Amino acid sequence: MERLAVYPGSFDPITNGHLDIIKRGLRSFDRLIILVAYNPNKSGLFSVNERMEMIRQVVGDDPRIRVDSFSGLLVNYVRDAGAQVILRGLRALSDFEYEFQMALINRRLNRDIETVFLMTGYKWFYTSSNLIKEAAGHGGSVRGLVPEIVLQKLQAKYSTLSGKG
Ligand code: PNS
Repeated sequence: MERLAVYPGSFDPITNGHLDIIKRGLRSFDRLIILVAYNPNKSGLFSVNERMEMIRQVVGDDPRIRVDSFSGLLVNYVRDAGAQVILRGLRALSDFEYEFQMALINRRLNRDIETVFLMTGYKWFYTSSNLIKEAAGHGGSVRGLVPEIVLQKLQAKYSTLSGKG
């Protein structure tokens, strides 16, 4: 049986930490759906289409990966996609409680779906999209924490937002 996992997240924007999980995930699963799960009432820095486009550019033309977006209940998407697993990355201890809560509510909502955690590479242990946005928004360099294309998009976004673009 094909092992299909859904890797959901906000991906606002995709970081090297996410990419690390994608690479590791492909060692355990035949196919991955990278799912930009968004809340229509919450706006991010990048639009959902921009986030998906960046992910597509970064992962390239890999037939094992599909990029999609969704704004409902995650377990319903996973069920409808015919997947059995939600893949999440775990970083520092601070992630644990939130991830544990989310895995438990998802299990309660659908007992046929398992959440599988992969530990992020140590280099990305303390980085997150939010911290990266904060640093970049204040003009700090986030080179090395995000793929080059994302770096350019962040710079362009913040120079537009501050009226310099
Ligand atoms: O990258 P993030 O922000 O940590 O991802 C969180 C995300 C989008 C995976 C999570 O909020 C989610 O699954 N949202 C969809 C709604 C849902 O099913 N929530 C969990 C059960 S209430």
